[in-house]
Amino acid sequence: MDSLSYLNKYFLRYKKKLALGVLFILISNIAQVFIPIFLREGIDGIQQEVQYDKLFEYGLLIFVAAIIAGVFRFLIRQTIIVVSREIEYDLRQDFWAHIQKLSHRYFQNNSTGNIMAHATNDISAVRMYVGPAVMYSIDTVSKFIIIIAIMITISPLLTFYTLIPLPFLSYFVYQLSKKIHKKFTLIQESFSDLTTRAQENFAGIRVIKSYVREDGEIKNFTEQSEDYLNKTMDKVKIQALFQPILYTIAGLSVIIVVWAGGGMVIENLLTLGDISAFVIFLGMLIWPMIAFGWILNIIQQASASMKRLIKILHEELEIQDSKATRTIINSIKGRIEFKNVSFRYKNDLPDILDNISFSIEPGETIAIIGKTGSGKTTLLNLIPRLFDATNGDVLIDGYKIKEIPLKILRQNVGLVPQETFLFSDTLKNNILYGTKNGNDELVNHVAKISQLDKDVEGFPKGYETMLGERGITLSGGQKQRSCLARALAIDPKILILDDSFSSVDTNTEEEILKQLKEYMKDRTSIIVSHRISTVKDADKILVLHNGRIQEQGNHDELVSLGGIYADLHFKQLLEEELKELS
Ligand SMILES: Nc1ncnc2c1ncn2[C@@H]1O[C@H](COP(=O)(O)OP(=O)(O)OP(=O)(O)O)[C@@H](O)[C@H]1O
Ligand SMILES: [Mg+2]
Repeated sequence: MDSLSYLNKYFLRYKKKLALGVLFILISNIAQVFIPIFLREGIDGIQQEVQYDKLFEYGLLIFVAAIIAGVFRFLIRQTIIVVSREIEYDLRQDFWAHIQKLSHRYFQNNSTGNIMAHATNDISAVRMYVGPAVMYSIDTVSKFIIIIAIMITISPLLTFYTLIPLPFLSYFVYQLSKKIHKKFTLIQESFSDLTTRAQENFAGIRVIKSYVREDGEIKNFTEQSEDYLNKTMDKVKIQALFQPILYTIAGLSVIIVVWAGGGMVIENLLTLGDISAFVIFLGMLIWPMIAFGWILNIIQQASASMKRLIKILHEELEIQDSKATRTIINSIKGRIEFKNVSFRYKNDLPDILDNISFSIEPGETIAIIGKTGSGKTTLLNLIPRLFDATNGDVLIDGYKIKEIPLKILRQNVGLVPQETFLFSDTLKNNILYGTKNGNDELVNHVAKISQLDKDVEGFPKGYETMLGERGITLSGGQKQRSCLARALAIDPKILILDDSFSSVDTNTEEEILKQLKEYMKDRTSIIVSHRISTVKDADKILVLHNGRIQEQGNHDELVSLGGIYADLHFKQLLEEELKELS
């Protein structure tokens, strides 16, 4: 339950509204208690002397009490439940803000489904505690105290009899709702599997169709749907028990009141009005007793959910500004130096980068070439600090990279990742994603450099074309060039292209490189590619092999060296010639 104390700071934020809510609960409950009291007076009055105006008077009093109770019930929801929604909102914002700051590594180690479950189910569970559980706890306790106090003044013995079955009510509700919740969790998991499966199916529909796997997918879906159905049925069966048990126990209490109380009336110990009031009091106590069992469950679930949320909220931000950060740095020029840099993804994994040293001056273009898996992407990730080096130093403008404010660093690094990603928004908004006040002029400018402009001329809606799920989907090469345009739009001092032309034909690529050369005159560029044609004009080429720089120099130097690069060069030349022949 400790985890729930984390929420106190949120409660404090709304303490005035909450205090009002508590006051409203008390007013509503007191008004409600007057209903049976007036009824009792009325019934006893009728027995003595029948007077219409007296009857009307009691009727009116009951009506007024009911109206007051009702109005304040409404106000309770307007305060406590509204606060719970506000706290849910605050918590979700804090959670989201924290999630955004978590490192790249966190997202590699935790599945999207998992994080989504925390963001939705866990926050909802906590909301149930903040709202209904708090409201019903105060309601139950205050109602209980007021009603029992009045019942005792009428007859302590009958109060005792009446209360006997009620703890059983709470117990059964507690047990049943616990079981129902367990089943519900299983149902949710099953449903999430079902939707994940469906989603994956739609995303991979081309693969399914081309491998003729439709029947297999239908069978899989049927199995998963059956699982979902069976789990739902399990829950329904337990739920079906709920009401019969409640009514039986509640009914038992009424029998006891009427039986034991009836005897007392016969012996003139109580009046008929007393018994009637007791039956109504009992009715008023039943809901709080049910709520009690239910609240216990909500608190347990909320506590478990809060524990999971706290774990994420306390997750250390692996990469962030620290004491070493020099806040006076507000721009960068683009000199990059790697000094004996080694990197491994985890302590128990081998080094992916091994003692890497090189430097790039502003305005220079460096190219990295190497077999797949040689560590190129890993090396690039160290520049915008998606990861930090395990050993050695990465320096920017002569400063250790940790000394540069993270925001300044990332605002100046235009990264075009190997795997393209665009948001389901317009092409224009995607291109301007990293900018604060981008305009059409900027879009046109960067699209021209990226050779995207001619493609867009063919789109009926031009840059306003919606991308993503429902809009037209771009070709692989168009996506890559859109990502390049997005990186250029932030006016980066350092441009990183991770195999960004793999889906672009060599002629277009050559044109882009030509345009980039002009644009990148005073900026630093790093180009990763598998193609010699892409890298050959770079000021310096690094050949990465098993995480080490095996060769470095310009094109001519590397060709005459006769190593890995020269080998690749001749192979690719041969391929070109063969292509031309065929
Ligand atoms: N998050 C990760 N955790 C553990 N190992 C990883 C991770 N990402 C990459 N690796 C491993 O690091 C090595 C280098 O990967 P990297 O992506 O840097 O290669 P690359 O040179 O960019 O390859 P490619 O040309 O195919 O893009 C690979 O062996 C890969 O399996
Ligand atoms: Mg790569």
